[in-house]
Amino acid sequence: MTTPGFGRIRQNEIYTAGIHGRKPRVPTDHAELERAARRVMSDRAWAYIAGGAGEGSTMSANRRALDRWAIVPRVLRDVSSRSMEIELFGQRLPAPVLFSPVGAGALAARDADVHIGHAAAELGVPYIFSNQGSAPMESVAAEMDRVRAGAPRWFQLYWSTDDDLVDSLLERAEKMGANAVAVTLDTTMLGWRPQDLNLGSLPFARGEGIDQYTSDPRFTEIVAERVRAVAGSGERPELSLGALKTLFSIARNTPGAWLKNLTSPEPRTAVQTFLEIYSRPSLNWDDIAGLRDRTSLPIVLKGVLHPDDARRAVDLGVDGIIVSNHGGRQVDGAIGSIDALATIAPVVDGAIKVLVDSGIHTGADVFKALALGADAACIGRPHMYGLALAGSDGARDVVANIIAELDLTLGLAGYTSVDDVDSEAVQRVSG
Ligand code: FNR
Repeated sequence: MTTPGFGRIRQNEIYTAGIHGRKPRVPTDHAELERAARRVMSDRAWAYIAGGAGEGSTMSANRRALDRWAIVPRVLRDVSSRSMEIELFGQRLPAPVLFSPVGAGALAARDADVHIGHAAAELGVPYIFSNQGSAPMESVAAEMDRVRAGAPRWFQLYWSTDDDLVDSLLERAEKMGANAVAVTLDTTMLGWRPQDLNLGSLPFARGEGIDQYTSDPRFTEIVAERVRAVAGSGERPELSLGALKTLFSIARNTPGAWLKNLTSPEPRTAVQTFLEIYSRPSLNWDDIAGLRDRTSLPIVLKGVLHPDDARRAVDLGVDGIIVSNHGGRQVDGAIGSIDALATIAPVVDGAIKVLVDSGIHTGADVFKALALGADAACIGRPHMYGLALAGSDGARDVVANIIAELDLTLGLAGYTSVDDVDSEAVQRVSG
């Protein structure tokens, strides 16, 4: 007997609910998902989450690169039973899909990361916790364990200018059960993001997305030192109506009682400290070489786009890379991540794991990524749109829909296992 497979189970759920007059809570195609999310999100949230770098041309390049490849289905190959399972760093996973790390999720929903962790644990696919998350990693891990003990989770690191903070974050990641650390390399500085700039809006300046820091012992130590230094100097912050509003927001978004936060210097010093130390533009290959001595976790480099950098990552002995242009949020006019994958995968040639993200919206997109040599794909904005529309269930359903479509695409293209999908499955059709 064969099981119906994830794709058909998901279709049945949706069509059965339809018989009772219920429509899916999140649209099942990306264009409508995006439109629906826009309607419920604030201007600031939309600018930060949907926005990209410069004129948005890297975001377009991500989609163009996918469109240049066409799936060429094969027929009559008995696809009644299919497997999407993969192995990543010693773990069996139900599908080659992960939740990308997304910072400042509080813009879309309070305690965003806890809800997304819940969603990922329900599906059993890894959630990569952002270093700029909106909840301490320990709280997210606890929620995931409540849903499914040992649910897969990774930690994404932004390399701070303070090495002790890096060590502290890594130690916490190990303790909360991370299965890997993804070091993001493409954001040593924030890209030029007109949507945010035009609103003068930087979430972190309002205390949104700094929870991994304010919950960290080393970070709070740095803040305490700075508060002492400022108190000694007699400096007073400049006050305006706008600054007061920002202060209210910081007081709401940092740990502790709101009123106390409003009057004490720690919260605003925490924000200032975060902005100064969260990332290090001098980051280089020597730092990565030294990372092995700092953590026992598998190391994954996120943001690799050049085959020479991929080769160097292999030579350095890291465990994996994520081919990514950060969803087109960093360098405008950059190469589409699928175009980069097509040049990188042959160079890596299976030596380490290759993941990809940026512009992956559907199961068919994931299929193309696998065909071009990826071991798995990560999903960023789509799960945030689901979160904005329907909380944890929405984030879960968006990714479940992508996995369902992947399962159906796999079978309908004539494959029974994701392991068998290779470059024979696609053809370059233009450009
Ligand atoms: C991101 N991304 C990101 N990456 C990272 O390593 N750490 C982070 O904190 C964030 N924060 C973040 C916030 C928002 C709002 C977005 C949209 C993205 C990048 C993310 O991990 C991933 O690379 C992209 O989102 C993938 O592109 P798509 O799926 O959004 O097109």
